[in-house]
Amino acid sequence: VAALEAAGERARGADLIVTLEPCAHHGKTPPCTEAIVRAGIRRVVFGAADVDPQARGGAEALRREGVAVQAGVLEREVRAQNAVFFHRHDASERPFVAVKLALSLDGRIADHVGRSRWVTGEEARAFVHWLRAGFEAVGVGVGTVRADDPSLTVRGPVTPPSPPLRVIFDARLELPVTARVARTARELPTLVVADRDAPDAATRTLEASGVAVVRAGGVEDSLRALRARGVGSLLVEGGGVLVGRLLAAGVVDRLYLIFAPLILGEGGVPGMRHVPGARLEAAPRWRTVERRVLGADSLLVLDRP
Ligand SMILES: NC(=O)c1ccc[n+]([C@@H]2O[C@H](COP(=O)([O-])OP(=O)(O)OC[C@H]3O[C@@H](n4cnc5c(N)ncnc54)[C@H](OP(=O)(O)O)[C@@H]3O)[C@@H](O)[C@H]2O)c1
Repeated sequence: VAALEAAGERARGADLIVTLEPCAHHGKTPPCTEAIVRAGIRRVVFGAADVDPQARGGAEALRREGVAVQAGVLEREVRAQNAVFFHRHDASERPFVAVKLALSLDGRIADHVGRSRWVTGEEARAFVHWLRAGFEAVGVGVGTVRADDPSLTVRGPVTPPSPPLRVIFDARLELPVTARVARTARELPTLVVADRDAPDAATRTLEASGVAVVRAGGVEDSLRALRARGVGSLLVEGGGVLVGRLLAAGVVDRLYLIFAPLILGEGGVPGMRHVPGARLEAAPRWRTVERRVLGADSLLVLDRP
């Protein structure tokens, strides 16, 4: 609608090319189909049909008004680009789970003394802030909080409508109340996912500093608990133990791997720990969604097999 308004009369008789089927319903804004017809668009080409039960049906509405419609162009690419949106409508019990890691060429996320600041360069770090802005929750294992004391905030040019929920996977409730995420928990939503038998005293201490605590029994149950709290998408940023468990459970939908041109060698912290071994011919191959240059680093985006 904004593009059509900007184009004004120049849109009359034009082709409109969009990723998602224009919607046919009154939500926060009036239907896109009405704006398209009013603007005098001759033909609409779109990538993927809208799966939102309230918004779907735009193609039919346009055809009824005499607009030519071509659907399904580059559908696979479009679905990958809008993966979080499509996941939200597929009745899954868990959030869309993406993992982002900054890795050395030999797959390490920190050196042998546990330092990871910074494996990758400035462009890569700016990309991560942009990436975070698109997720409803950003998570790490408590080992990462202990090592890096991250703030897990979005500090780039894109500001999300509301800051992502910060999730700490902390089975035994070891998160120190002095950690940055705990100290800022009154300003920014922060949640700890603990085992069912984690000590109650630790829960009370954390809750007193504004951190919410949920209890769950294992990886899948943790993700169900997040979904039940309304989290539709989760970006996990390490460390290696948490990422390994998610991979072993088969619940990672997408990997954002940023490779830095260095080797950290023996003793460096592996990015994916304790993943059960697979025979070469049986190991499923992830599907490349994107390869991008980020300064001296290389981003590889892959979807689950
Ligand atoms: N380069 C990068 O992108 C990057 C990113 C993050 C971290 N790092 C580096 O990685 C290192 C830390 O990684 P790490 O592998 O040692 O630790 P980690 O994965 O951050 O945290 C491990 C801890 O998380 C808990 N945990 C894992 N999965 C859980 C789950 N599903 N539910 C509840 N708790 C869960 C574990 O508890 P239990 O074992 O008690 O179950 C364990 O104590 C640091 O050196 C850090 O600098 C690098």
